[in-house]
Amino acid sequence: MIVLGIESSCDETGIALYDTERGLLSHALYSQIALHAEYGGVVPELASRDHIRRIVPLLEEVFEKVSLKPSDIDAVAYTQGPGLAGALLVGSSVAAGLGFALDKPLIGVHHLEGHLLSPLLAKHPPTFPFVALLVSGGHTQLMKVSGVGQYELLGETLDDAAGEAFDKSAKLLGLPYPGGPEISRLAEKGVPDVFKLPRPMLHSKDLNFSFSGLKTAVLTTVNKQQQPLSGSVRADIARGFVDAIVEVLEAKCAKALRQTRLRQLVVAGGVGANRQLRTALDKMAARRRCRVFYPDIEFCTDNGAMIAFAGAMRIKADPGCVHRTYGFTVRPRWPMEELTAA
Ligand code: KG4
Ligand code: ZN
Repeated sequence: MIVLGIESSCDETGIALYDTERGLLSHALYSQIALHAEYGGVVPELASRDHIRRIVPLLEEVFEKVSLKPSDIDAVAYTQGPGLAGALLVGSSVAAGLGFALDKPLIGVHHLEGHLLSPLLAKHPPTFPFVALLVSGGHTQLMKVSGVGQYELLGETLDDAAGEAFDKSAKLLGLPYPGGPEISRLAEKGVPDVFKLPRPMLHSKDLNFSFSGLKTAVLTTVNKQQQPLSGSVRADIARGFVDAIVEVLEAKCAKALRQTRLRQLVVAGGVGANRQLRTALDKMAARRRCRVFYPDIEFCTDNGAMIAFAGAMRIKADPGCVHRTYGFTVRPRWPMEELTAA
């Protein structure tokens, strides 16, 4: 079964073809980062318009790469939510148009389920059950994943998401959007413990997170320094921030592994690309004789492959989950708890 995947929930247009027999056949991505950079964040209206511009050429590209025709596919999977309404509408309307024209069934995929299952696309995938740390621009959650659709929320952020904390703190240091990779690079040049920033909820008994206090601590630290900040002060603050957030994420992952008695940890979402986080989690897992699984770097941030894959997994588990109604509704807010087991 060949599934076409379409992702357009935020600022990346991603298209992919996934074959349940042969694996990922081809994928293509267009990132709008440069478009939004001058505004310091994603501008929803610009995002929607750019998805419209990019989506058809990307579709043509994925088919051309493997010499397939649109009629060769068996289903279309598209991101139905959560995300920006206008951006989601672009992907879902293209999916509906293709489904109608080709007489193929559709499946609306939950964006976070795409992230959650993306490590299964790797050459050496984890097996169910596993603990998943989902760290993206909009979400920070720890889950127990027992199968497709079987997700138990173990803990989540009470305020800002990890990616948001990265981006906002980077902005306070004058770094361009998206700040996650920028502040991480700058931190590598910084000296540890020059600025010791708070580790919110590090010792709380639950598996929840809170990052807005950390962001505020970056702000007050920046404001206390002589302006403009020197290069080394900026690097030291970046280092203080990255060390703090990584320590909290690592400690909560360790606690989740202990609580669930599982030995596999899967890290998904854009922040999963962070080098310092990967190093810390690998060390922690080695101490606990556990294994950490990451999606390939290109599938950490938003992409079409994870949507094609999640759609294919859903259809494989329950062929009746597709729809052949070609009207479409997007779900900009779609709690993951509403996902049911396949
Ligand atoms: O999963 P994603 O592509 O989009 C959402 O669904 O939100 O995640 C984007 C987030 C942004 O906040 C970005 O700054 C962060 O992931 N990110 C990183 C890194 N690469 C991306 N944060 C820290 N270090 C990185 N290397
Ligand atoms: Zn995402």
